[in-house]
Amino acid sequence: MISVFDSGIGGLTVVKEIVKQLPGMPVLYLGDTARTPYGNKSPETIRQYALQDAQFLISQGATMIVVACNSASSNAYQLLTTNYKLPIFDVIIPAARRAVALTKKKRVGVIGTRATIGSRAYEKAIQTIDPNVTVIEHACPIFVPLIEEGWAKKGETTRIVKLSLQGLKTKNIDTLILGCTHYPIIRDIIQVKISKRVKLVDPAEEVVKELAQYLKTHPKLAQSLRSTEDHRFMVTDVTEHFQAIAQSWLNRSVKLEKISFQ
Ligand code: DGL
Repeated sequence: MISVFDSGIGGLTVVKEIVKQLPGMPVLYLGDTARTPYGNKSPETIRQYALQDAQFLISQGATMIVVACNSASSNAYQLLTTNYKLPIFDVIIPAARRAVALTKKKRVGVIGTRATIGSRAYEKAIQTIDPNVTVIEHACPIFVPLIEEGWAKKGETTRIVKLSLQGLKTKNIDTLILGCTHYPIIRDIIQVKISKRVKLVDPAEEVVKELAQYLKTHPKLAQSLRSTEDHRFMVTDVTEHFQAIAQSWLNRSVKLEKISFQ
């Protein structure tokens, strides 16, 4: 199984991409729903949580891990790769690569949680690839609760997205990274409000492209991951609300299994 972790249910947007790009590949998903959200926690706390998440997946037999959460990827990826010697995929680097390839004006915007934007991980990743790219980062902490409350299609959300992106609109960007697991859910609204001419980068799509490429060149690993038929969804807290969101995002029935860290 491909092991994926996230701060909660947002990482299901990555699972959706795995289903699309790697059909038939089973996923072992861990969502830390008891401690979600990570996006407004300190880097130290996020690192501690991310280590526990990875450790749990390894105890379940993970042979590779995808960090679906942008807040965890941006604050804990390096620590994870130093601590664990299995292949670990983060969402930042693949999205940064794609943004650098897309930008013509060499001006890229990034939106995400406070933890992601505060880490400046996207800026560092982009400028490592191309130091001539200017990166303008902007936290949009209000989007996650709106989306989790099922307000994605409400007029209020459209107005809040418009207001939140106003500052970025004047920055002459031609590419925008949706640096949070939840933002693809309101991708169309973001596209309209930032401008139809700005190209959007979805880190979920990019990390799965990278993963698919990696598995092509590592067929033995790919074969070993196909050990079961269906996905498993493990969470640190089960509520009817999480259950309902999971099912509606994945468009299938989802059985959430409650686990606890030792
Ligand atoms: N999964 C988080 C991210 O991508 C969003 C939700 C949270 O703040 O935990 O940054």
